[in-house]
Amino acid sequence: MSDTVTSRLSGFHKLPMEERLAQIGRMFRLSDEELEQLRGVGTLEPVLANQMIENAVGIFSLPLGLGLNLNVNGRDYIVPMAVEEPSVVAAVSFASKIVRESGGFVAEADESMMIGQVQVSNYGDPTLASERILDAKEEILALANSFHPAMVARGGGARDVEVRLLPAPEGPRGEPLLIVHILIDTQEAMGANLINTVAEGVAPLIEQVTGGRVYLRILSNLSDKRLARATCRIPLSMLADFDLPGETIAEGIAQASRFAEADPYRAATHNKGVMNGIDAVAIATGQDWRSIEAGAHAFACRGGQYRPLSTWYLEEGHLVGRIELPLALGTVGGPIKVHPGVQVALKLLRVSGVRELSMVFAAVGLAQNFAALRALGSVGIQKGHMAMHARSVAVTAGARGGDVEKVANLLVKAGHVKVEKAKEILASLILEKPAVAVTITNG
Ligand code: MEV
Repeated sequence: MSDTVTSRLSGFHKLPMEERLAQIGRMFRLSDEELEQLRGVGTLEPVLANQMIENAVGIFSLPLGLGLNLNVNGRDYIVPMAVEEPSVVAAVSFASKIVRESGGFVAEADESMMIGQVQVSNYGDPTLASERILDAKEEILALANSFHPAMVARGGGARDVEVRLLPAPEGPRGEPLLIVHILIDTQEAMGANLINTVAEGVAPLIEQVTGGRVYLRILSNLSDKRLARATCRIPLSMLADFDLPGETIAEGIAQASRFAEADPYRAATHNKGVMNGIDAVAIATGQDWRSIEAGAHAFACRGGQYRPLSTWYLEEGHLVGRIELPLALGTVGGPIKVHPGVQVALKLLRVSGVRELSMVFAAVGLAQNFAALRALGSVGIQKGHMAMHARSVAVTAGARGGDVEKVANLLVKAGHVKVEKAKEILASLILEKPAVAVTITNG
């Protein structure tokens, strides 16, 4: 596959699903088996599901859509997104189209530095215990690296040891909490297993050098040394819409950003919008999305107040958006090599490694957020949402095939998007249809 793959697939959303699949199949030279995986037929074999978790009884599925138009650092990405919420995929594609016409997203990501935590108690003098741990740093790192020689051979491994003393008036004998951080470069892996092995493995040595007792040994999901950032700059003239000038739309977005900066109640919803996009790609690409969520929200709180992960402001005739968040992702490990659907999703994304994947995630989060704020700061989201929502209401009411769109349109027109109304409309459509003649023959 050359780098000439474009994410700008004009009219894609209007194609029937099979034609969309065929187009993607041609673009990415997908095998019949890979197409079947995208289509969702046999995505995860029950036998595999049974090996993955306990008490397995089946497979749970979600719609898989493709976010289009994304351009990050001059490269196009077609983004697989697994999500049940209408308008998430459309919003990313819409926002990415505006941003690509403004030069695309610019993004960067840190190396894959994760944190393993070891909690030490009953250590005596805190200063002395801290010094002893730091004096034994090289020994601790060497021991840590002995558990994962393959990771070290690939250029990763334990890099540093930090000691943190945290006030804990209610701790045993009122001693401060002594927390050791082992910093580990997990390279292409998210690294949870590896970090936990290291944290548990170095604990006896830490007990030995401090004379204390180790309790918890586990990774931290606040992976704030593994951040990804994305920015975009959109000329105000490109924002004009809904019969409103670009300046007004941009001002609505900047106001929404100010609101989220000042108010945690709003920041939570703002960040939910960001995570709408990020979670959807995370699920499609087999990531531990709970870890990503935990990290993002803890990071949003780092200054003592819960704040937005992204900000927007006006600068020299442009609307500027920025996002920064921890992204502990992997291109190996977990279900990534096991789940065949994830393999196809990663094939579509064409990333060369986990850092590039993190940049795409950050850009998707910013795109999703832009689309939400643009609507919220101007005409509101209900108009667009209702059109999408009407489709699922139509399906719930029993509409299928071409009837879904018809019922949805009539629901929106009626201004009453409810299942009961959809059933009424559906019944009237059925009455309008010419009856199919059925001939019953004897014998
Ligand atoms: C809905 O899933 C997400 C939004 O609420 C995000 C936001 O308010 O910024 C629209």
